[in-house]
Amino acid sequence: MKIIGTGSALPEHIVTNEMLAGFLDTSDNWITTRTGIRTRRLLSTETLRELALEAARKAITSSGLRPEDIDYLICSNVANSYVSPSLGSIILGQLGCSCPTFDMNGACAGLVYSLDVADAFLKAKNMKNILVVAAEQPSRFCNWHDRATSVLFGDGAAALVVTQGEGFKDFRLTGNTHTEVMYYKREMQRTPYDRVEEKTEPLVMNGREVFRLAVESCIDDVDTLLERNGMTGDDIDLYLLHQANMRIIECIREHLAQPKEKFPTNIQKYGNTSSASVGILIDELSRAGELKEGQTVMLSTFGGGFVTAAAILEWSDINYAK
Ligand code: UT7
Repeated sequence: MKIIGTGSALPEHIVTNEMLAGFLDTSDNWITTRTGIRTRRLLSTETLRELALEAARKAITSSGLRPEDIDYLICSNVANSYVSPSLGSIILGQLGCSCPTFDMNGACAGLVYSLDVADAFLKAKNMKNILVVAAEQPSRFCNWHDRATSVLFGDGAAALVVTQGEGFKDFRLTGNTHTEVMYYKREMQRTPYDRVEEKTEPLVMNGREVFRLAVESCIDDVDTLLERNGMTGDDIDLYLLHQANMRIIECIREHLAQPKEKFPTNIQKYGNTSSASVGILIDELSRAGELKEGQTVMLSTFGGGFVTAAAILEWSDINYAK
């Protein structure tokens, strides 16, 4: 499987750390030194559906395909205002596609989870082209009086078109039950028969524990993929990691003893956009010509669950002029 099209879309509204310090007991200094985040984009006048559509359209255009050439749409999304239908179903018709679709909740690892499923579909179901969209609005999970979570997230969408061909070499996905370290419980309707009180809660996170799990598990994924493919850290040209915290990225980089240039980031601008983060990074780097033909790329992501997903691929150039 290889990537032949990329796209991304971000809300227009830019929120700086100083703006947050205007109503939360926080500071630009705390946020930048602890996380690396300087600004984030938050949905204001747009909807997540519009961002998902924009990213998907850009990805299809750059792939050179027509919407009717897409055989499957997998949409990575943790939650949005619609529980049903799926976000994939909502955007499908507006894209001009008429293929099957479903939403995947692989938390912040959802894009790489979706790519793993797409790879399996391409092999097993004799399909040609799959559109993978990751669209997330984690800012809407947060309690905006809670400085420990609300400063971390941003909203955004990314999309990739994948097709049969040489590119992805290997995936590693893991799962574990650690519900208590990070969860968001939204409201459901009550029936007359409910006897269990389920408290709804905005995002609850044990930041230190998530940090520890993230560093430990990403290192394990990266080391396992390298070893399984007879490679060392030096053989990877670019490490594209989930953009959750600069210090998490730095811990992984230090373990691998690799130069900073191999770890491009955009967390400074966008914060943690959940499963969209690595897709936005791929799209921006590819369009800027910083992802080059033949480069070996490591993707490594983690999220609530606790889940992780990593992959090694060889990059093929995309012609955005078409
Ligand atoms: O996609 C996955 C999503 N989640 C993550 O990736 C989170 C991973 N974890 C982290 O990124 C870090 O743990 C955080 C950035 C969330 C927190 O950094 P930390 O260095 O682990 O700080 P901490 O939670 O240990 O808190 C240190 C202090 C506390 O004050 P006291 O108890 O020492 O007085 C917090 O109350 O910092 C305080 N604090 C803040 N201060 C100013 C927490 N949030 C803020 C804030 N501004 N926004």
